[in-house]
Amino acid sequence: MTNYLVEFAYLIASILFILGLKGLSHPESARRGMVLAEVGMLMAIIGTLLHRDIVSYEWIIAGLLIGSTIGAAMSYWVPMTAMPQRTALSHAFGAFAAALVGISEYYRHGAELGSFTMGAIGFEVMLGAITTTGSLVAFAKLQGLTRGTPVVYKGQNIFNMSLLVFTIGIFIYLLIDPSASPVFYMMTGLAFLFGVLLVMPIGAADMPVVMSLLNSYAGLAAAATGFAISNNVLIIAGTLDGFSGFILSVLMCKAMNRSMTNVLFGAFGSDSSTAQIESGTEGTMREVNVDDVAIQLAYAKQVIFVPGYGMATAQAQHTVRELANVLESKGVTVKYAIHPVAGRMPGHMNVLLAEANVPYSSLYELEQINHEFPSTDVAVVIGANDVVNPDARDNAQSPIAGMPILEVDRARSVIVLKRGKGKGFAGIENPLFYKSVTGMLYGDAKDSLARLTQAVQHA
Ligand code: TAP
Repeated sequence: MTNYLVEFAYLIASILFILGLKGLSHPESARRGMVLAEVGMLMAIIGTLLHRDIVSYEWIIAGLLIGSTIGAAMSYWVPMTAMPQRTALSHAFGAFAAALVGISEYYRHGAELGSFTMGAIGFEVMLGAITTTGSLVAFAKLQGLTRGTPVVYKGQNIFNMSLLVFTIGIFIYLLIDPSASPVFYMMTGLAFLFGVLLVMPIGAADMPVVMSLLNSYAGLAAAATGFAISNNVLIIAGTLDGFSGFILSVLMCKAMNRSMTNVLFGAFGSDSSTAQIESGTEGTMREVNVDDVAIQLAYAKQVIFVPGYGMATAQAQHTVRELANVLESKGVTVKYAIHPVAGRMPGHMNVLLAEANVPYSSLYELEQINHEFPSTDVAVVIGANDVVNPDARDNAQSPIAGMPILEVDRARSVIVLKRGKGKGFAGIENPLFYKSVTGMLYGDAKDSLARLTQAVQHA
């Protein structure tokens, strides 16, 4: 009877995970999707707690209390801007749990394991270990605990590849002889080491792609755990996680017009990778002041805001909304153009603007908005740089050549809000700032927007 209850809880959990994932595919249904996935997780936990193999509940209750306290504290205190590193840390914990389950299964059953179960456990431990250390390095880079730029040395890719092939070789040996426990522990150690070596040469700004890839490894590790301990919900949830993480990584690479190989092995962000053949960056940038910009905005028919990473660091989403409200009260049409990789993580801008109650109907994706720039009076670039760099379109030699951009340079007037001459993530010059249509309004984005809101009110 209990077995049926457990399987029933797992079935409901799996259905809720699938529906949750579907909900997450659209910003309007994302909140509901999240709630469904949370209820699914609760069902999976309840199912597991009913399991007859559980000998005592004390450790489980202690784990639940500690985990819930840490989780609640993190959700209250970690700021939105630190979300990428928070996610990296969660992945590390999840993957470490998967690796530990695999190690304990091997420790308990070792030599009696058949090739199939050994395969599942080996896969789980290998992927779990790589994801654990890889995610910890990602966390350290994003949190600024280690250097964010790629750590590269001669022969690195060949060394890393050889290590991976050697580790996989050991894994195959274990399938033939599961009783060789020193070999198992050697494979585990090498996989932990490989996680570090895999992520060290990748720049901090590429971490979202790496993390969603690691997430997909963690998912596959969980699915393998499911096979190893005959747990259906782990197989289903792990597979969903594995493939959605992989698809997300591919989509991010596509939006940056870079291959997965370039992200993983190209050391993007190191000096040699971003050496640029510059174009259109002669001359000077035209500085403008708040009052001039306020008049332009107040008398415009249509204004398009283009948020980027700088808006996130300045936490200026609420101030943008206030400026938009004032402009709308003056009859100006306000739209927001969202680039798929603006910011540092998928959906970064959508989440921030939703937090400031910007209606979803005012957000436009690249393909929907680009044709509107020529008929737009003012495009206001708020802490964005690479995603509006016309070199991606016009200069075949640019490191970001081919990356789709928001074509703000086609608007009648462009105002760029940034603090100074800082470059974007790609570390390259942006000819947009030198164009005659562009005016530079220097200062912290939140501060500039607050001053603009006041000035527009009096314009
Ligand atoms: P970036 O190109 O990174 O440019 C951000 C700009 O914001 C900088 O030039 C900086 O100039 C300015 N800034 C920083 N703090 C500011 C503040 N407090 N107030 C005003 N301005 C500030 O941003 P983007 O255009 O959003 O592009 C994102 C980049 O990240 C792309 O290259 C993308 O490929 C990459 N990336 C994104 C993702 C995802 S999934 N979103 C994943 C991996 C990589 P100053 O220093 O002069 O102020």
